[in-house]
Amino acid sequence: MRLYLGLSGAITLIEPVDFRRLDVLIDPQINGRLDPAIARIGHRDGDQHVWLCPQILRFLSGHAGEADWEAGFGGMLAYAAKAGWVNGEGMVRAHLTWVENREMVSHDDFKAAMRALPAGIAAITTLGGGEPAALIVSSLTSISADPPMVGFFINEKSPMAGHLLETQKFVANILGHEHARLVQTVLSQPQGNARFAGGSWAAGYGDIPVLQDAVASMECDIVHNWRLGTHRLFVGLIRHAASRTGANPLVNFGAEIRSLQAGDGA
Ligand SMILES: Cc1cc2nc3c(=O)[nH]c(=O)nc-3n(C[C@H](O)[C@H](O)[C@H](O)COP(=O)(O)O)c2cc1C
Repeated sequence: MRLYLGLSGAITLIEPVDFRRLDVLIDPQINGRLDPAIARIGHRDGDQHVWLCPQILRFLSGHAGEADWEAGFGGMLAYAAKAGWVNGEGMVRAHLTWVENREMVSHDDFKAAMRALPAGIAAITTLGGGEPAALIVSSLTSISADPPMVGFFINEKSPMAGHLLETQKFVANILGHEHARLVQTVLSQPQGNARFAGGSWAAGYGDIPVLQDAVASMECDIVHNWRLGTHRLFVGLIRHAASRTGANPLVNFGAEIRSLQAGDGA
């Protein structure tokens, strides 16, 4: 099995049923993020090796509890112990393997490609330091129907990321063409009450502001978050949802905010 510490910040276990080898693959472009990534899975042993926590391998495998996999994994650990690769704390030693440098798209080409994707616009609301907080996103997406979950990505530099981690709840308010000015208010005002100056807001689940005339609103508990590159994914389990028909939603396309139906002047 091979643990992969990728440039994105994701840690994955590949080839989880291959018990004949154990190493840690490292993306060469990971730069300053290598030591924090290693700290999440164990600790360093010189330049060439790391000590890994077997429970983390079990968790990442997706096969823990399956009789065949447990037998193979137990056999691998027993073999490692005999060879002197298991320490007094039960940590197992593995080689660091640097994967080859692979090509990556330029920032400009990435942005140009994503500008071609029409995406709905939502105001994510939560609480921060006792005050309401809001952020405009185009990354809101459906994740699962059962249980019902949505998610979005927030730049780690935005204070909103800390507010969401603290409050563990949010409301996703999907916006229509009548909210074009509200979008400008949220984008231009400092975080806090000033971002709620436009629009008809009322306190909802956990006192978080809900936009009363939103195209749809979803009141959620955060059930998962994960840092990926510059952004953090937040996943919410939807507790309450409201929606209306006949709306003309706002859409982000070609680096412009437009309304979906032409001729509305949004
Ligand atoms: C159409 C549009 C979509 C956006 N989507 C996102 C997003 O998905 N995630 C994000 O972190 N920022 C997104 N932004 C940027 C934030 O809304 C913007 O950085 C924010 O206003 C900065 O506020 P802050 O100082 O509270 O971080 C988007 C901006 C616009 C105009």
